[in-house]
Amino acid sequence: MTLQSSPQSLYLLALITLSSLNLLHLKAEASSKLYVVYLGEKQHEDPNVVAADHHDMLTAQLGSKEEALSSILYNYKHGFSGFAAMLTESQAKTIGELPEVMSIRPSRTYKIQTTRSWDYLGLHYNEPKGLLHDSHQGEDIIIGMVDTGIWPESPSFSDADLGPIPSRWKGICQTGQAFNSSNCNRKIIGARWYTMGVDPEQLKEEYLSARAFNNHGTHTASTAAGVLVRNVSAHGLAAGAARGGAPRARLAIYKTCWGSNGDCSEAAVLKAIDDAIHDGVDVLSLSIGPVGGKGYLEGSLNAVAKGITLVFAGGNGGPATRNLINELPWVITVAASTIDRSFPTVITLGNGQKLVGQAIYYQPTNISFKPLYFGGSCSVDSLNNTDVVGSIVLCSPAEIISFSPRYDPYIAANNVIKANGAGIIYAMYTTNLLFFFESCNNYLVICAIVDFGIAREIQKYGNITSLEGTKPMIKVSLTRDVAGQRVPSPNIAFFSSRGPSALFPELLLPDIAAPGVSIVAAMRDSYDFLSGTSVACPHISGIVALLKSLHPSWSPAAIKSALVTTASITNEHGWPIEAEGLPRKLADPFDFGGGHVNPNKAADPGLIYDIDPKDYLKYFNCSIGIPDACDSTKPLYYLNLPSISIPNLKSTVTVWRTVTNVGSTNAVYKAIPESPVGVEMVVEPPVLVFNCTHKVQTFKVEFTAVFKMQGDYKFGSLTWYDKDDHRVRIPIAIRIVIQDFFSDAS
Ligand SMILES: *[C@@H]1O[C@H](CO)[C@@H](O)[C@H](O)[C@H]1NC(C)=O
Ligand SMILES: *[C@@H]1O[C@H](CO)[C@@H](O)[C@H](O)[C@H]1NC(C)=O
Ligand SMILES: *[C@@H]1O[C@H](CO)[C@@H](O)[C@H](O)[C@H]1NC(C)=O
Ligand SMILES: *[C@@H]1O[C@H](CO)[C@@H](O)[C@H](O)[C@H]1NC(C)=O
Ligand SMILES: *[C@@H]1O[C@H](CO)[C@@H](O)[C@H](O)[C@H]1NC(C)=O
Ligand SMILES: *[C@@H]1O[C@H](CO)[C@@H](O)[C@H](O)[C@H]1NC(C)=O
Ligand SMILES: *[C@@H]1O[C@H](CO)[C@@H](O)[C@H](O)[C@H]1NC(C)=O
Repeated sequence: MTLQSSPQSLYLLALITLSSLNLLHLKAEASSKLYVVYLGEKQHEDPNVVAADHHDMLTAQLGSKEEALSSILYNYKHGFSGFAAMLTESQAKTIGELPEVMSIRPSRTYKIQTTRSWDYLGLHYNEPKGLLHDSHQGEDIIIGMVDTGIWPESPSFSDADLGPIPSRWKGICQTGQAFNSSNCNRKIIGARWYTMGVDPEQLKEEYLSARAFNNHGTHTASTAAGVLVRNVSAHGLAAGAARGGAPRARLAIYKTCWGSNGDCSEAAVLKAIDDAIHDGVDVLSLSIGPVGGKGYLEGSLNAVAKGITLVFAGGNGGPATRNLINELPWVITVAASTIDRSFPTVITLGNGQKLVGQAIYYQPTNISFKPLYFGGSCSVDSLNNTDVVGSIVLCSPAEIISFSPRYDPYIAANNVIKANGAGIIYAMYTTNLLFFFESCNNYLVICAIVDFGIAREIQKYGNITSLEGTKPMIKVSLTRDVAGQRVPSPNIAFFSSRGPSALFPELLLPDIAAPGVSIVAAMRDSYDFLSGTSVACPHISGIVALLKSLHPSWSPAAIKSALVTTASITNEHGWPIEAEGLPRKLADPFDFGGGHVNPNKAADPGLIYDIDPKDYLKYFNCSIGIPDACDSTKPLYYLNLPSISIPNLKSTVTVWRTVTNVGSTNAVYKAIPESPVGVEMVVEPPVLVFNCTHKVQTFKVEFTAVFKMQGDYKFGSLTWYDKDDHRVRIPIAIRIVIQDFFSDAS
């Protein structure tokens, strides 16, 4: 259910001060809605004073104290000041017109970021021993999960080997339906849940507590910080040990997303962030995004200013460009990649020929040869034939241009199931997408994906049998799983959202890629597959916990820098990482930012690009909340980010960056500029010398357009290297522009 269809929509108001609001006396209207009032940086020493202020403010407008009290649903008071309250549209409008009001806009529904709740295959999480060991597996780092709750009985959340709860923890274990204080332990150290502002429809099937009805939150929490659990598998596939990135880190659960849809109200998410600041979390993992893709949580900056690293999913809108979500410079925005595991399934033709596809076929009722039916596009019409019944149907999308791998195979499978087919073999250009298999397996139908070459072999066999006048037969065997170097990986996942950032093209996004395809993690009492940037996000959250444990003094910006500058752009064979899509191509920074995460290298990055949280506002002072109203004179590419994106290079642009040496005290770094095509790039000075008095150095990079040419984005990089094998690389994206009105989206 989206906000539009709900009678209570959310609006976000960003105000500077409370003064002069008490002059307002607004007429009451019948239909009030829930609004979120964001009072920005304003903070009070005593949070209760803040709450009282909110009440006074509303009393002034609503006329009665009782009405004000009952209309306020949430008070935000720890990191930032504000509240969520039921207001009429005209009340909200009047507030929005006050001079102190920076912005007023509708709040959004957020959604969990699985591609859908479909099964996926795979389990591979190569946690480098060095960092895991040195960081004591993230011991005592607290990861806050803003998600659908948790299934506390999962063995992944056992606290058997953990020490006492860190004394700095100030959170609570909020009880509720099927969740009492015994459900918190030394692993799940906190739990809170937020139903205010949530569509009541979403709550009907739910546990009114932190217990997860929707498995998403259990999966992400166990991916970030699950303990080692041996001998698990998903339906016998991908068998092995399951564990999170930081097995000794603690979990704080903030259940803000509800129902099978996993819808989250922005008002609740902001309250969860506010509480997490108070509670003392170190990392916040948010595998959620605004419905429709636009917008971001400005309240998140206050968490970052308190030293909390925020990790967000980058969205599942790929492979089209410009559809990233959570585009903010102070958070980490994560893309999803494939891992080195695949699920080959042998397909045998009636003539004995063996071919290989991909499938999740684990519960056969009857593995035997079955008639083969050529279903073409597998539309309802093309399956209107009694021969479909009991047959395995080969489906091949007719129009590759309009083909949507996220939906078309799913529709075809449903058509085959409705026509009483025994199974479906779907021809696609990438066999990494096993999205529609859950419904196939629920119905115990065979579902396999083959590439177009294999599909042609099957068709050829069909032609031969029709010449011979025999009936074509086919058999699909049980899925095996194969892992290791034989499976080319990582590739950026088809669904992973791509840059450039539509809201802020001067930020190079996404930041980094992490495994997000066919990952096995906890779901209730068992383990199952899930894919999506939702799954990639807690991988980064777990790694951040390890880095925090190893380097407690590093700021969120330093941790992000360490991750981005050490990421890999090639696979273990030294081949460039590819991005799935149509066609598949070499991955560029708009697919994976700095590259694929390399945790062990991130532990020792050599140099970091650090940022004082105050700087974000200096460069990002665009009446936060309304990008349209942005009046910033300083382009965002001046922020000391570990990347450079210049969307409008006309002649020459000079940017400065400052790096801090976090390696050995005496170090000499040399620059390797790799300039984007058509751009001249000069780094000054080209050598940086660090010693005990010079730990921080500033350099400038001058970009000059070589040609006067209306271009699209071209990519480059700047790497600083020393003799200790540090290679500190930042990605660069530049677009030469000669005409302002012309734009090339690519
Ligand atoms: C919590 O619930 C469980 C199961 O119903 C019960 O065994 C346990 O005693 C309860 N704990 C508390 C503290 O109420
Ligand atoms: C692993 O689990 C399976 C099925 O639950 C069981 O049959 C097997 O004995 C277990 N193996 C080990 C080593 O525990
Ligand atoms: C298995 O499938 C074959 C071919 O469709 C059929 O002849 C046979 O009866 C089936 N066996 C069972 C036990 O369903
Ligand atoms: C299936 O085909 C028959 C005749 O070929 C036709 O009468 C019927 O309407 C078709 N059904 C559908 C659902 O298209
Ligand atoms: C099968 O036969 C059809 C019709 O004769 C032809 O168009 C098609 O190319 C053949 N397919 C293969 C794979 O040989
Ligand atoms: C943001 O902009 C406002 C108005 O333009 C200005 O008063 C304020 O000082 C700016 N804040 C920062 C941090 O630059
Ligand atoms: C550190 O390097 C700077 C610049 O090269 C130099 O001026 C300074 O003397 C050096 N400090 C020491 C302690 O060597």
